[in-house]
Amino acid sequence: MTSDRWIRSPMFLLAVACVFHAFVSGEQRFIEKPPLYQEVSTNDDVQLRCIVQDKAGQCIWQKDRRPVGMHPDKYEWASNRGGDCTLLIRRANLYFDDGFWECQVTSSDFTRQDALSSEQSRLLVRVKPRKPQLEYGGAELGATLTLKDGQEAMIACVSRYGNPPAIIKWFVGNDEVEPAAVQSNATEVDNRKTWAAHSVLRVRGQRENHGLPIRCVAAHPTSLTPIGTESRLDIHYSPEVRLETNPQPLSAAPEDSASFLSLKCLADANPPANIKWFKDSVPFSALLADGTSSSLPIQGKTILLNDTVWSAELLFEPVKRDDAGLYSCKATNIVGESAPASYRLDVQYAPMLKKMNGNDTSMDMEETALLSSAVDLFECPEFEANPPAQYKWVHLRGSVTETIGNRVQNKGGGRRLHLENIMWSDEGEYRCIAFNTINGIRREITSDGRYVLHVTGPPEIQARPLPGEKDFYESVGWAGEHVHRLKSRFCSRPPPKLVAWQWGSSHIRAGESIHPKYEALPLEPIVENKMVTNCYWAKLEIKDLRKEDARMYTLLVESEKGRDSTNINLIVKDPTETRVIAAAVAVGLLFMLLLISVGVYSLLKMRRRRYLQKVEEEGSIAADALYSNGASMDQQKSINSSHAKTIARKSSLDGSQGVYDYSCIAKQTRAISPEALKVRRAPAVLQPPTIV
Ligand SMILES: *[C@@H]1O[C@H](CO)[C@@H](O)[C@H](O)[C@H]1NC(C)=O
Ligand SMILES: *[C@@H]1O[C@H](CO)[C@@H](O)[C@H](O)[C@H]1NC(C)=O
Ligand SMILES: *[C@@H]1O[C@H](CO)[C@@H](O)[C@H](O)[C@H]1NC(C)=O
Repeated sequence: MTSDRWIRSPMFLLAVACVFHAFVSGEQRFIEKPPLYQEVSTNDDVQLRCIVQDKAGQCIWQKDRRPVGMHPDKYEWASNRGGDCTLLIRRANLYFDDGFWECQVTSSDFTRQDALSSEQSRLLVRVKPRKPQLEYGGAELGATLTLKDGQEAMIACVSRYGNPPAIIKWFVGNDEVEPAAVQSNATEVDNRKTWAAHSVLRVRGQRENHGLPIRCVAAHPTSLTPIGTESRLDIHYSPEVRLETNPQPLSAAPEDSASFLSLKCLADANPPANIKWFKDSVPFSALLADGTSSSLPIQGKTILLNDTVWSAELLFEPVKRDDAGLYSCKATNIVGESAPASYRLDVQYAPMLKKMNGNDTSMDMEETALLSSAVDLFECPEFEANPPAQYKWVHLRGSVTETIGNRVQNKGGGRRLHLENIMWSDEGEYRCIAFNTINGIRREITSDGRYVLHVTGPPEIQARPLPGEKDFYESVGWAGEHVHRLKSRFCSRPPPKLVAWQWGSSHIRAGESIHPKYEALPLEPIVENKMVTNCYWAKLEIKDLRKEDARMYTLLVESEKGRDSTNINLIVKDPTETRVIAAAVAVGLLFMLLLISVGVYSLLKMRRRRYLQKVEEEGSIAADALYSNGASMDQQKSINSSHAKTIARKSSLDGSQGVYDYSCIAKQTRAISPEALKVRRAPAVLQPPTIV
């Protein structure tokens, strides 16, 4: 009975109720709290999430520790469900909504003390910053940043009134560069909810960076593409110059009055430079003012090639000899002056006569040299040339010019004519030729001067040497010839005192005659190249030639310097005798021809016979073949004997001539000194000649 009473008591009912309540609906608590940080763009809607389990109290929102009431179309509950305290903020605005928000729930009963409050939730309302700005020296930087080569500068970039602060990056050209320090963020004084981001860059002026852009770029979540601002580097540097030839490179050496070329001075400078030309270190301006230098090349216009490179041109149209020299150019601007660039212009030119101070050197010269001597005769006037002139000499002989090999390349490049062992044929006119070679082409110029050489010496009889080692000359005549002429050429200077012919016991001077048989013609001077030489023809005429006239004739030439003589053997042939010999030879030839044709005929016949024998029967030799062989052997013998006969006759002829060979004179004059020449010949006649 006691247990029933306990169960029915009101205290028991209350306790049960309490236990039931606690089990079915517990104490109120947050299921989801607003995030600690959240961003929203201006004018967008945003929800601050806040969900409470077993919510018993009321939802309240605070911003920056102050309660916020619900306003339709601005602050609204996100839903009507029991535990959802989520706040919907419409059209987020920096001034009203940016700050720290708290979600709170009042207690279910004052006795329970179960009120809730979330942590502060940062809601950031994004604001797009202004275009970043470059600053230098406390002022806004314009389109260019001018720096001197090597100068350093600190420039700043500021991105203002942005929320959150923008992130600043730097670029020089296309390369990102590191700022001098980490960017700083500070709230704006006049708008404390926005930020000024500030970054500093150290810039060094370098000529290779001239013209490059410096860019500051601000990245911000409000836009996908970052906004930037830029300024161009303007580096001031001192000029640098270099010289170029046009054509480049030169294909051939510049030649006087023939080559066209130009020199270009390229000056790299900022700001623009003034280009000056120099020749052999003297400024052009001074040369022009001076007026003494006759030719200066034309100065072309100075033109701008690209941003910083200027080109000044010198035109040689065409190159002149006087243009040779060292050309330099220099450029100057406000920063400084360049080192000079130089080019040495070498102008080649053909030989030209060097002007001696007022004196005309091209005069004619005549010299006399002793036979067989060695002499340095003439000197060619000096020629100017580039490359330096060389000289050669020619000897004019009629229409033929003979070049004299410069055996001894003497000091002046062959200017002096050197002759060794002078001969009579060295007489005559010489010309000197100066030459050089330009671009593979030989340039020659002949000196105006005429140089004439005379040779003096004892008489020398000049006769062409005959084949065979004979020391006399032959002249062949025919018996019955109307006039036969013996002649010999000789040279002598001074002219001969005595020219005489001698035979047997007779002798006769030139210009005299023994009537009616002999006449020695007067001396006939020989003219060569329109010049009278020191050589003569001596001629002896023999009329009505007979066999008895065949003998040795001696020519004697004598001057105050010496004497010379020669022997001429006159052979007189009988025309009838020769006719007989000619007939004999003809007969012999005919006979030989006949024999040969007989031989050929029999050979052919024999072959044919052999062929026939092969066809019919082999073996026997034809009798007429044997016979014909014997005949050809006979013929051979007769030819041999006739050959022996001719040899015998010839040797007997030689023997008879040996009788007259009383004056053995060697005609080898080349290596003999003039003194030796005077005495070397003992002429057959020593007394003055007598006329018969
Ligand atoms: C400045 O702001 C940017 C962007 O919010 C941030 O990344 C950077 O760390 C801040 N710098 C400093 C020094 O506070
Ligand atoms: C200008 O021209 C020069 C040669 O003509 C060249 O070396 C240089 O790089 C150029 N500069 C620019 C900025 O184009
Ligand atoms: C010209 O040449 C002559 C003879 O060779 C000489 O005497 C004279 O001094 C020269 N005159 C000059 C100006 O060289």
